[in-house]
Amino acid sequence: MGTLKVLDLFAGGGGFSTGFLNAECADYTFEIVKAVELDPNASETLRQHLGEEKVIEGDITSPEVKEEIFKNCKDVDVVIGGPPCQTFSLAGPARSGTKEMREKLKHDPRNTLYKHFLDIVESIQPAYVVFENVEGMLSKKAEMTDGISAKQSQVIELICDELEAMGYNVGLEDSLNRFQVLNAANYGTPQIRRRIIILANRYGHENPIPIQTQQPENYKTLRDSIYYLPVRLPFISKRSIDNLKKMEIVYNHYESLLGEFLDCIEGLASDAQEPIMHERLNQLRAELKKEFEKIRGSSEPNRDKLLTFIQKYNDLLSHLEINQLSEDITITTHQSRTHNLRDIIIFVMTKQGSNSARFMNEQHDDYHELLSDLYPYSREKHKDTYVKHSWDRPSNTILAHMEKDGLKFIHPEQPRTFTPYEAQLLQSFPGDFTFFGGRNAQYKQIGNAVPPILAQAIGQSILEKYVSISKKKLFKQM
Ligand SMILES: C[S@@+](CC[C@H](N)C(=O)[O-])C[C@H]1O[C@@H](n2cnc3c(N)ncnc32)[C@H](O)[C@@H]1O
Repeated sequence: MGTLKVLDLFAGGGGFSTGFLNAECADYTFEIVKAVELDPNASETLRQHLGEEKVIEGDITSPEVKEEIFKNCKDVDVVIGGPPCQTFSLAGPARSGTKEMREKLKHDPRNTLYKHFLDIVESIQPAYVVFENVEGMLSKKAEMTDGISAKQSQVIELICDELEAMGYNVGLEDSLNRFQVLNAANYGTPQIRRRIIILANRYGHENPIPIQTQQPENYKTLRDSIYYLPVRLPFISKRSIDNLKKMEIVYNHYESLLGEFLDCIEGLASDAQEPIMHERLNQLRAELKKEFEKIRGSSEPNRDKLLTFIQKYNDLLSHLEINQLSEDITITTHQSRTHNLRDIIIFVMTKQGSNSARFMNEQHDDYHELLSDLYPYSREKHKDTYVKHSWDRPSNTILAHMEKDGLKFIHPEQPRTFTPYEAQLLQSFPGDFTFFGGRNAQYKQIGNAVPPILAQAIGQSILEKYVSISKKKLFKQM
């Protein structure tokens, strides 16, 4: 029985640590000695799961934090970490922002946080290093200096070079590469998520590639992971209705659009598993239908009719206790954010597994003229803003951007985006794991995390390698 001591840098809400704590081989396990994190909410999540004394809350670039790390972590065996990736990310402003935004990102100090990771590794000299980052890092170049080729200037190559210069082997078993791109779906996460992993060790052996447990034909899906959760409906915001783009289309077509919404509620009612939910949703649909007939017959402007309908719907949602916790469901984070009516209509009318790029493309089977007209964003820069997921596929990569909006994560049947709890399960966090902070803070920690199941597979492969080389050493000594 033994433990390898781990230091988790840029630890976030603890996805990496959680996975490593679950790895085990021949009575060997990992122990998290310290987890370092800047964000107060994420740090509180870490304290709640790892223990108060394990967390260093602060800026890794500051001398005080480094001193605390060196004081407490001299003898750690493994350093793991994924420096922030906004500026490397293929999503968001790095891809679609203005020229000005992209220029600003180039000089973002977060670009160089990996250097602090390497400084700490160099001082501590652990036996193993695990560096994780987004695939977009592959296209990231360091400042070009004379005599350095384009390949040598890639940040990923520089990190490997630096680790080698420190005496680490970054080579992989059965591969000429010095890093691997792992898809979390191949390890049992119900999500397509490709991440770069550099493994390095001081023992001189080649580094393991974790054994895949799933193939595309048996990837875990949304049905496997979140189908069983109770229905959650969003409140509809009334506040910004006059400032919303394309609302005139909703006003002009309100009868057919509300008809689609009512059909959606009817579908949820007939599929609802628990009798009480079935009853409440049916009641909601019946009351809404009455309201619909009432406003249809009134002489008010369409805008006012819709405001009346929204008010009625919001009231019914509260009174019928549709989103209420029950004795069985005490998960407070399985609640929808509020949406505006235009988005809800888009959610309802988009086909399962489709997205805005498809419903706006006249050549595509999913083309829908009304939806295309309702699209409120720039068609050049943001084609695929809305993405409706399928029950029978894994989720797309869960993003920290969910803290801002969840439009790329529309539920397959319910007219809303994923709740934090659904995002947590799709990231393979245990069902009883809790994230500290409000809804946005939770989305951020979840979206930033290394899926624990992937982290566990990486940890497991290191332990297996470690055990096998320890046995060989013992054998030689006999
Ligand atoms: C990509 S996330 C890491 C997620 C984590 N590996 C997990 O599995 O949950 C990067 C984290 O680095 C933190 N961070 C950013 N700058 C930092 C700094 N200067 N010092 C310490 N932490 C920092 C961010 O708050 C964020 O939580």
